[in-house]
Amino acid sequence: MSLTRLEIDDFRCLERVSLNLDSRYNLFVGENASGKTSLLEALFFLGRGRSFRTRRLDRLVRQGTDSFRLVGWVQLDGHQTVLGVGGSRQGTEIRVGGTPASSAAALAQYFPPQIIDPDVHKLLEEGPQRRRRFLDWGVFHVEPGFMEAWQRYHRALRQRNAALRQVGNSKALAVWNPELMTSGLRLDAMRRAYVEQLAQPLADIGTQLLGMDITAGYSAGWAQDESFEVALAKSVERDVKLGITHTGPHRADITIRVNGQVARERVSRGQQKLLAAALILAQLQLQERLHPGCGVLLLDDPAAELDGNRLGRLLDVVRGLPSQLFVTSLRPELDSLGQPGAMFHVEQGAVRATAGFNPA
Ligand SMILES: Nc1ncnc2c1ncn2[C@@H]1O[C@H](COP(=O)(O)OP(=O)(O)OP(=O)(O)O)[C@@H](O)[C@H]1O
Ligand SMILES: [Mg+2]
Repeated sequence: MSLTRLEIDDFRCLERVSLNLDSRYNLFVGENASGKTSLLEALFFLGRGRSFRTRRLDRLVRQGTDSFRLVGWVQLDGHQTVLGVGGSRQGTEIRVGGTPASSAAALAQYFPPQIIDPDVHKLLEEGPQRRRRFLDWGVFHVEPGFMEAWQRYHRALRQRNAALRQVGNSKALAVWNPELMTSGLRLDAMRRAYVEQLAQPLADIGTQLLGMDITAGYSAGWAQDESFEVALAKSVERDVKLGITHTGPHRADITIRVNGQVARERVSRGQQKLLAAALILAQLQLQERLHPGCGVLLLDDPAAELDGNRLGRLLDVVRGLPSQLFVTSLRPELDSLGQPGAMFHVEQGAVRATAGFNPA
């Protein structure tokens, strides 16, 4: 799979961009505030239907305009599919192969971007929501039934929470418990299996990047020593009192350990970045193993906050992946990644193929 062509209209500072892309390694070079991260944000939006920087669509629409438009041409198994995303203050519109799609998951089947940016450490530093999202993105790519189980669980959870608030009566909850339990246990089993699959790539990449023993432990969202059913029954009183469900897969998390110690409490900022990058790269490697040639990695300013040695190790791992790469940099040389297949110059919101660039 590869994105062969990209068009952007009025996204952030990017007024009108039209690019032919390399199936392997695309490098975007430009000064501060030229539009490099905005370009990766547009690529991310094209595959995920959301930004990694903001939830507010009005921030993404170019100042002075009402809407943005992204179009990407994807080559997959000998077929070309056009992905289209429009955004305005009112919302987003998604088209896949010219047909309207109701969810962003339809985009990700064709173009599933992962990002490593200067904020990547937040994956470890912040609360469990980011890590759950990371986990679910991984499971989504390996388990065909995941999306359905996720939606069913969250629908049951919303209904149970509404019952808790409106009725305040534990008997009414019994109606929602069976669905919550069935879909919740399916979610749990898929997540648990995924964390086990991730262990080996994570250990390998951890050794390569940090020379440390990295493990990911899974917490289901309730106490390990009891069943979901028992945990749910135990928390009913508290749930009724506070009007919200406290126990279940919506509270799941992963705990990253370095040489046996909880990472968040042990490592420097630079190490935290490498650790978070290791998680994302391990996920990508697993995805590539199951669906070869289907990964996409966006790498925003990898040199930020990493010393030469660690940057070299990160880029060595990235180079070993068969994924399509979109990399930004303040400077044109990122030696460890080798020669880009296409190089672009970003300047004041305009992106142009670098003049005189002639890949080997
Ligand atoms: N909605 C918008 N409309 C117009 N311009 C915007 C909008 N949102 C952000 N910008 C501007 O876009 C410019 C480019 O931002 P971007 O983050 O892409 O730069 P960058 O090249 O990644 O810079 P750096 O190297 O510092 O990370 C900034 O000057 C920012 O103010
Ligand atoms: Mg930037």
